[in-house]
Amino acid sequence: MKEPLLYSIRMRASANGRHLSGAERLAERPDLAGVARTFIERALSKGATPAKVVLTIDEIEPSEIRRVRALDLTSLQAADLGECREQVRKLLADAGVGPQAVEAAFHNLDAGPSQSGGNMRGAMIMDAATGDRLEPDRERGVRASRFDWSDGAASEIDRELGRHGLTHFRTREALALATKVAHAPEMVAELCWSDDPDYTAGYVASRRIGYVRLSRLKQEGVPTGGRAFFVRRDACDLEGLLRYLQEVPVLIAAAGLVRPAASIEEVSFP
Ligand code: COA
Ligand code: AMP
Repeated sequence: MKEPLLYSIRMRASANGRHLSGAERLAERPDLAGVARTFIERALSKGATPAKVVLTIDEIEPSEIRRVRALDLTSLQAADLGECREQVRKLLADAGVGPQAVEAAFHNLDAGPSQSGGNMRGAMIMDAATGDRLEPDRERGVRASRFDWSDGAASEIDRELGRHGLTHFRTREALALATKVAHAPEMVAELCWSDDPDYTAGYVASRRIGYVRLSRLKQEGVPTGGRAFFVRRDACDLEGLLRYLQEVPVLIAAAGLVRPAASIEEVSFP
């Protein structure tokens, strides 16, 4: 049977040149109108009124689609910000990120990782050994795009996340993003916390440890954050990595496990 054509459908809303919200899906033709409606509702649901909403629909080349299973999700319990950051150090060290690179990432995400000191529009790419910055544009960074849950995997992950009280839309989207990122061959790990002053949770992710969520990676009210993609520099074909992250469509065909919250001592990673 011939597979149905998929389209990449993306929305971005802005005001005064400032990005307000964005969303994307990989959708079949009959679903496009419904997705577009949901996106427009999302663009208009934020407190600020967007001055511009851009909706883009591109056909996907079926042979390009990669199908993967989502990373397993583990929530770690920790007493406070200091303990959460200690756990990040341990997890990243375990994933193969050197201490210099970990501290450089903390410093950048605390200060605002863009060249001019603010947030970036995408992620940093860092040498996992030294923390050297490898992304071609340090103001912009690199954005992972063209990824989505299949319908079956979406219902499965919504049910599992709901069972564990992880109902914030950010968790589902960040898990999808981290799954795509972790499947780049040269990727060692990712570290993320939001630039939203009201959202203090973040994660460390890699193919081996999965998506490890920590409730507090910055103080409330702090407006800086971002993402660090740590790569093996010697194995890194930067052009190929950028193409994979930005353009290759990745469909998450199966949900991973969602584990109950536990302390780092109680969790064993493969
Ligand atoms: N942050 C800030 N600015 C953004 C942006 C973002 N996330 N996404 C787009 N822009 C702005 C930038 O000015 C960008 O110019 P640049 O490429 O020089 O940075 C401009 O819009 C055009 O970007 P483009 O990539 O062509 O937009 P697009 O129409 O393909 O839409 C989005 C991209 C918005 C769908 C994508 O960036 C996005 O946010 N996807 C959702 C990913 C997701 O689920 N993230 C989970 C986070 S928890
Ligand atoms: P958010 O989790 O949406 O608050 O985003 C936090 C930071 O992650 C942003 O400031 C960007 O630097 C970066 N970011 C946002 N979207 C992407 C993306 N699609 N790919 C890579 N980095 C992103």
